[in-house]
Amino acid sequence: MTTTNVALITGSTSGIGLECAKILAQKKYNLLLISNEPNKLDELQIEFSSIYGIKVFALYQDLSTLDAAQSVYQYVLQNKLEVEILINNAGFFFFGEVVQASPEKASKMILLHIHTTSLLCLYIGRHMKERGRGYIMNVSSISAFKDFPGIAFYASSKKFIKGFTRSLRTEMKYYGVKVTALCPGATATNLYDPNVIDVKKGMRYGIMMTAAEVADAGIRGLFSNRAVIIPGLLTKIMTFLSIITPYWIIYLARKRWKSLFDQT
Ligand SMILES: NC(=O)c1ccc[n+]([C@@H]2O[C@H](COP(=O)([O-])OP(=O)(O)OC[C@H]3O[C@@H](n4cnc5c(N)ncnc54)[C@H](OP(=O)(O)O)[C@@H]3O)[C@@H](O)[C@H]2O)c1
Repeated sequence: MTTTNVALITGSTSGIGLECAKILAQKKYNLLLISNEPNKLDELQIEFSSIYGIKVFALYQDLSTLDAAQSVYQYVLQNKLEVEILINNAGFFFFGEVVQASPEKASKMILLHIHTTSLLCLYIGRHMKERGRGYIMNVSSISAFKDFPGIAFYASSKKFIKGFTRSLRTEMKYYGVKVTALCPGATATNLYDPNVIDVKKGMRYGIMMTAAEVADAGIRGLFSNRAVIIPGLLTKIMTFLSIITPYWIIYLARKRWKSLFDQT
């Protein structure tokens, strides 16, 4: 039997992905939750289906492998899921110079942020095109707006997501499929190594948003067909400031706080 009205969310066991899942469950979407945390996935499957009375499918999958998108697609076909909403949210972060980075970590980031994200759009987007409807939200970042040292792999892969999403949006508009890029700024989640970034301090000083606020802005923007969503006034201001900051100032900052950029 086909399950309709499914929202597929990658990286849905914590942070922004988890909050998106809660919002869509409240709106009575059935869920396909995907993450590489099997225990949390099982817990969420039971919790969401009992609280919201929806169908919840949970797929344990490392999305940073070459065949991850294909495996997810096979799961969708085998379980006869009609995906109405695709949210490519899974991601991770590390600081460090390009030449100091672990090649394995760098490769996993490229596979997760670029390879799997774009191929899931391809596989799932095809069916949306056939049905003439659907929503895709790809999670980028405000770091996609400027090229900073110390986050070359992260920011450049997020830049790919932003550009790819804009092209896809224009292509899919013709078929009735809505495509959005969510570009959060600093958000209090598990993304950051607590030894490098103090999330509690960030929240206390009002620099960081909560995952719930970001997810709420994202889902509202997705349903109102926004091209790019930058949640929060401070994030918008920071994005603007980063765009206009000249590279000589970035170089001076790089020299002054070199140790920060050296962490991997
Ligand atoms: N927090 C911020 O300040 C911020 C700012 C801009 C953009 N973003 C983006 O927002 C998205 C969500 O991040 P978040 O802040 O909510 O952080 P988070 O709480 O760490 O969530 C990331 C999710 O992605 C999953 N994930 C990571 N690698 C994976 C892999 N190889 N296979 C499957 N799942 C994987 C994580 O599962 P595990 O925990 O099991 O690894 C986790 O569920 C990311 O794309 C991030 O780049 C975040």
